[in-house]
Amino acid sequence: MSSQFTIRFAPSAPQEAGLAVLLKLKGDGAPAGAATADPGAVIGKASAVSAYSGKQMAVLDILAPHQSPFDRIVVLGLGKADELKALDWLRAGGKAASLTKRAERMTVFLDVPGLDVSAEQAADVALGMLLRAYSFDAYKTKKDDDKAPAQVAVTIVTAAHEQAAAAFEQAQAVAGGVNLARELVNLPPNVLGPEEFADRARALETLGVEVEILPEKEMQELGMGALLGVAQGSARPARLAVMQWKGGTEGETPVSFVGKGVVFDTGGISIKPGAGMEDMKGDMGGAAAVIGLMHTLAARKAKVNAVGILGLVENMPDGNAQRPGDIVTSMSGQTIEIINTDAEGRLVLADALWYCKERFKPRIMINLATLTGAILVALGNLHAGLFSNDDELAESLLAAGEETGEKLWRMPLGKDYDKIIDSKFADMKNSGGRLAGSITAAQFLKRFVGETAWAHLDVAGTAMNSPATEFNQSWGSGYGVRLLDQLVRDRYEA
Ligand code: BES
Ligand code: MN
Ligand code: ZN
Repeated sequence: MSSQFTIRFAPSAPQEAGLAVLLKLKGDGAPAGAATADPGAVIGKASAVSAYSGKQMAVLDILAPHQSPFDRIVVLGLGKADELKALDWLRAGGKAASLTKRAERMTVFLDVPGLDVSAEQAADVALGMLLRAYSFDAYKTKKDDDKAPAQVAVTIVTAAHEQAAAAFEQAQAVAGGVNLARELVNLPPNVLGPEEFADRARALETLGVEVEILPEKEMQELGMGALLGVAQGSARPARLAVMQWKGGTEGETPVSFVGKGVVFDTGGISIKPGAGMEDMKGDMGGAAAVIGLMHTLAARKAKVNAVGILGLVENMPDGNAQRPGDIVTSMSGQTIEIINTDAEGRLVLADALWYCKERFKPRIMINLATLTGAILVALGNLHAGLFSNDDELAESLLAAGEETGEKLWRMPLGKDYDKIIDSKFADMKNSGGRLAGSITAAQFLKRFVGETAWAHLDVAGTAMNSPATEFNQSWGSGYGVRLLDQLVRDRYEA
């Protein structure tokens, strides 16, 4: 069990004892709050003994001397001042949250000598804590003997406490969205089918999001043969969720986000090998990021009009499942020869993207999808693949990726790649084979976006199973929520 953190900001330390976390720059300078927490000047001695210099995320853990108002003092290194990045405040918060042990109270001192810590940076420390605190343990019936307290009361000491408290409201909205996305990716596929996922979209109504759920009959009437073809082998019917957040001016053209929501991907008739197939419960990581983003935008009352669309299906093999060789007609009218039923994500997105473009004529359309294993081969789980028909949009996304640490790497598109998916029997085929697998998948999607400024993020390597960080220990990472929230702030609210 991990702890929940209740966070407040104050100009000075509270009276209650507990854990003191003191941030420190690399070098000889004193850490923040040393005067208050360490009247015995123990830190200097302890640092010398253990050759502690304040390297980034390095920790010096000492039992407080009896003159100290605290029980324990932990010094947390920030590294060099001129090398500090926005993301480091999130990391510091996450690291601090991991240090509580049995403490029920924690005071984090931010007034580092020689450094002017802003309200936003203070709020980022708090955000790092809320993100670190997330763990998926709903299905663990035996609570282990880790005695972490259920609640930890945190005070963050900073001169900018009033502005920090205001910025923290935004941070809570971000944490809520990221942790929602993580939870949906972690949930088992028997519990989270297309209808249950749609219910989670519906729940955003409490935040003021307008939500419509299209059942299969309506999708049939719209001609969504590509999406429905994927769903037809499953006992659980498909859904299309349409979410609208209207925080901008009335009539302003919306920005839009489309997510692949394959609640489980067996591969269908082109069935996947058994080993590791359980990971395919995370094949809705794109849809999870979109719902998480919509949560964040609504919770922080973002001044933007945003649309979120989720294509929700399960890819199963049964007597009614689609076959390799089948030809389906998409909502766009374009026909698709099914070569491999495991290339299902692009079929779902073909109709979801077309629907989004036709109905909303959005300023931009960004889709997120755990689309190809090939992107893992190319980029591992350290960058998501970025494909775009719009250089400005791509540049903004790359910048937001650097700022949030949710990194992207731009991949090519082009006519010669597009040719690979032409079909002998239909307008296109759903697989171009092994070579350039991520690129031909992107070319496929591009045939359904028209002239809209569009970007496709292949998050197969980053939505799940990515390396743990100071502020993420969860299998489902929530990748994409902070990235796209940053993009919206930079490009549409500024
Ligand atoms: N959901 C998978 C892609 C995937 C693989 C996501 C590993 C996360 C981790 C997707 O539907 C898929 O099966 N893609 C195939 C496409 C191929 C059949 C053209 C792939 O990547 O092998
Ligand atoms: Mn597949
Ligand atoms: Zn898939």
